[in-house]
Amino acid sequence: MTSTAPTLALSGGTRMPQIALGTWPLDDHEAEKALLSAMEVGYRHVDTAENYENERGVGRALAASGMPRADLFVTTKLNAHWHGVTEAAEGLDRALDRLGLDYVDLVLLHWPNPARDRYVHGWEGLIALRAAGKARAIGVSNFKPKHLRRVIAETGVTPEVNQIERHPYLIRSASVAFNSEHGIITEGWSPLGRGNGLLDHPVVTGIAEQVNRTPSQVLLRWAVQEGHAVAVKSKSRERQAENLQIFDFSLTAAQMADLDDLDTGEHHAVDSDVFGH
Ligand SMILES: NC(=O)c1ccc[n+]([C@@H]2O[C@H](COP(=O)([O-])OP(=O)(O)OC[C@H]3O[C@@H](n4cnc5c(N)ncnc54)[C@H](OP(=O)(O)O)[C@@H]3O)[C@@H](O)[C@H]2O)c1
Repeated sequence: MTSTAPTLALSGGTRMPQIALGTWPLDDHEAEKALLSAMEVGYRHVDTAENYENERGVGRALAASGMPRADLFVTTKLNAHWHGVTEAAEGLDRALDRLGLDYVDLVLLHWPNPARDRYVHGWEGLIALRAAGKARAIGVSNFKPKHLRRVIAETGVTPEVNQIERHPYLIRSASVAFNSEHGIITEGWSPLGRGNGLLDHPVVTGIAEQVNRTPSQVLLRWAVQEGHAVAVKSKSRERQAENLQIFDFSLTAAQMADLDDLDTGEHHAVDSDVFGH
């Protein structure tokens, strides 16, 4: 059965499918294979990055699918090396070349890398890329409210998306609230947890039994039910299809609250001050 995800309105005027196929840590060949099966089962959004070194494989799958470009939503991310206006232009041109595309739907600054203190310049670079039509939407990843406050204050332009680690062990209420107040879509990465046993947690498996769904579907439903996007990776066609079948049921307020209660606190988030260089 094929079904596609709903789309979310971004503040710049485009729409983004609520579920992306994540592609880390797939290599070119694995990413190509995974994306081809994902598109067959209904995915229209792929999440890649310069850092993943699989943009060529992603591009091959997009081309081989034969799908109209306008029906696909491609996200990539630039490394800190490109935090500047001329740098970002070159960084995205190289990514487009690897992808075999002439624009991406969304480009993100992968990490703020505050030790370099260049992320505001990186953001100015993305603003120019959107104006030039090389990216239809622009955003950031792993930005805390303090980083977002600064780019907004210094450029007057608010990111459309902030992609952050998010799952019930790490609900990040302050970040999510900040994003919502500023019209920024929160997109969760590692929505199934990071190999940390979340899929086997009795609260998750208990709710899965109650709603007659899988633990993965419960975790993804928890995210999308609140209007957030998710990037979820699977190289298995069956699990890709399973992860997409989350728009035909809902969780009760009590089930949502029980999942929120699994939060272990913001201090468990990967520290963007030291990661990502
Ligand atoms: N912005 C950033 O800094 C950042 C950082 C990390 C990740 N990301 C993005 O977010 C994406 C997702 O994050 P992630 O890959 O770390 O974690 P994830 O999507 O939460 O989990 C992926 C793992 O779960 C397994 N899985 C998938 N569906 C399943 C299901 N239905 N039942 C059981 N297991 C299932 C996958 O194995 P199989 O493949 O074998 O199914 C894989 O091992 C990445 O691929 C990447 O695109 C972004």
